Amino acid sequence: MKPVEIAPGIFDVGVNDWNISDFHGYSTPFGSSYNAFLIVDEKVTLIDTVKDKGHFPDKLLNNISQVISPDKIDYIISNHTEMDHTGSLEKVLRRVGEETPIFCSKMGKKGLSNHFHRDWNFKVVGTGDELSLGKRTLTFLETRMLHWPDSMYTYIKEDKILFSSDSFGQHYAGNEKFDDVIGDAIMPHAKKYYANILMHFSPQVLKLLKTVGEMRLEFNMICPDHGILWRKDPQKIIDAYVRWANQERVKKAVLVYDSMWQSTEVMANAIAAGIDDKGVEVRPMTLRKWHRSDVMTEILDAGAIVVGSPTLNNNIFPTVADMLVYMKGLRPQNKLAAAFGSYGWSGEAVKKINKEFEAMKLEIVDPGLRVQYVPDGNSLDACFEWGQKIGAAIVGE
Ligand code: FEO
Repeated sequence: MKPVEIAPGIFDVGVNDWNISDFHGYSTPFGSSYNAFLIVDEKVTLIDTVKDKGHFPDKLLNNISQVISPDKIDYIISNHTEMDHTGSLEKVLRRVGEETPIFCSKMGKKGLSNHFHRDWNFKVVGTGDELSLGKRTLTFLETRMLHWPDSMYTYIKEDKILFSSDSFGQHYAGNEKFDDVIGDAIMPHAKKYYANILMHFSPQVLKLLKTVGEMRLEFNMICPDHGILWRKDPQKIIDAYVRWANQERVKKAVLVYDSMWQSTEVMANAIAAGIDDKGVEVRPMTLRKWHRSDVMTEILDAGAIVVGSPTLNNNIFPTVADMLVYMKGLRPQNKLAAAFGSYGWSGEAVKKINKEFEAMKLEIVDPGLRVQYVPDGNSLDACFEWGQKIGAAIVGE
């Protein structure tokens, strides 16, 4: 992509990563982008860089060159240390000048120093600190744990533009650059991003949005470091974040499972029918098809998480164990939970899944349902009734 002038004198000089399909364990079938922003003012400023992969650093420098010679850059802002936004920093500094000031948070300085082991010209900034570029003034806002301890936002008060780092982003590579171009089609990508990157920091999201409200910041545009920029209706993504951070639950059950010889799958189908019978939306998701990050997206607004696993070697089936470890890290809250599965002789899986639910502080609505070997008609009736019980708990019967 060529640099896009997102506002007079402000350019997106980042790159699209069209072909990335796995972002540290999160499936990204639509790729991603690493947005970086160039502000041409009396002091020329670059906000963030891009991943150091293939031609990306050269592409970033080339994009900058189409606007202004990179050696005219006076300041670099590093909103976040993670390597998808700082990987090219060393190459950029080589071109821009090693003495160029890098404005970052205290934890940003620590992270960048530990990563690059270079004694660069770091300038530590904190919430409320300002930096004049000439016609514009940058204000910094630390956003600890959204989603790293170093994370911060940069705000231009004259243009009312927020550079929000990972927050409000989406792993989406496209020729569209703005929300008004792509429309609502971007929202599932934003939801998946929230579920897999920010869900476990929901309390911090709510606290930050309260702070932003108290500061009476207005937004003409919100520019995340991934995906499209919000200019038509920035409030729309803020409102979505409030809903997602509150983990408001709808009448929906996510039924995630794997199966060795289809017995647990047959149980899942009967349970799903029972949940559906109570007027509750049910999303059966076998881990043979669905990626853990897609399951988490569905869990974000679900009322119940129902997990099914056969017992293998006295344990939870490995794909289900993987799902539970990933889920536990993302800390879903405000959910009902229940476990089921087929077994041959010892059948420990359900008990072990319940232990994981307890560790996640989910509300277990039933001790679990187990069927030995292949379910018969009676067992399937029991599965259906068990599903009805979960459905009833979701609708509050
Ligand atoms: Fe897009 Fe936390 O890096």
